[in-house]
Amino acid sequence: MSETCLRHEGVATPVAKRMGSARISLTASPARPTEGVECDGGVDMRNWIEFWDSDHAIYVNARHKAAHAEGIASDFRRHIAAAGTPRPVVLDHGCGEALYAEAIAADCGTLLLCEAAPTIRARLAERVAGLANVRTLAPDEVAPGAIPPVDLVIANSLLQYLKRAELEALLDTWKRVLAPSGRVLLCDVIPPGVSPITDATALLRFAAREGFATAAFTGLVKTALSDYGRIRKSLGFSMYTEADMLALLTSHGYVAKRVYPNFGHNQSRMTFEGRLG
Ligand SMILES: C[S@@+](CC[C@H](N)C(=O)[O-])C[C@H]1O[C@@H](n2cnc3c(N)ncnc32)[C@H](O)[C@@H]1O
Repeated sequence: MSETCLRHEGVATPVAKRMGSARISLTASPARPTEGVECDGGVDMRNWIEFWDSDHAIYVNARHKAAHAEGIASDFRRHIAAAGTPRPVVLDHGCGEALYAEAIAADCGTLLLCEAAPTIRARLAERVAGLANVRTLAPDEVAPGAIPPVDLVIANSLLQYLKRAELEALLDTWKRVLAPSGRVLLCDVIPPGVSPITDATALLRFAAREGFATAAFTGLVKTALSDYGRIRKSLGFSMYTEADMLALLTSHGYVAKRVYPNFGHNQSRMTFEGRLG
């Protein structure tokens, strides 16, 4: 069995839960062993998009959101500065709310914000409407001709929510939209064996540094009992070993390497770079 799998961390059971205004039914694959490792298995990863589009509470308070955005802005700036092109075209794929967009827009020739969740995307489009060099895109708008050649693609904290086949399709899409000297950064990739406890510890350390430790602790308990906890148990995350991710990038025509540090606060996760040559 390949190590690039969806790891189901709990028993796969149907979950029905009200998310914001939409009642959705989360039905993973039929019941399977609790700690099995399996690939795809009929799991509907689209439900993750519904989760992100809902009124979730992944960020425990405003300080957490702001600290996350500040950290990601600084990671973007570091890689934009290293792009080798002044004011590069940057594609942030799976951008979420991108609260850092205003902070990094001036460093980019064009900043393309791609988000699959329709409510998040609509709010984001409204928020950045006044920024002439920022565009909001649905995933199917990421296509050659529709956008300028991209110098830097960044996908931060996205891969765990994609099936392997979806990631492979995206690797090919990105190749088609990249400028010849462009590169792709896949960030916050989760290796197998990183448990929710490791993630929780990393968050608590980050929270202690940024002054929201108490809220983070309460938030973690709430998250464990929430939609996110249930969905993570029923849908799982896609996880990749370093070797597997390097092989996957190489098999899609990229020159691949791991880069340090990882984006964001959790250094048990990984960042990879793929260049066209
Ligand atoms: C964990 S959030 C990360 C947001 C942002 N990159 C950050 O670091 O703050 C993952 C985001 O990816 C979006 N997403 C999931 N699948 C996607 C896809 N196929 N194309 C574009 N966005 C996607 C989700 O809706 C969600 O907003």
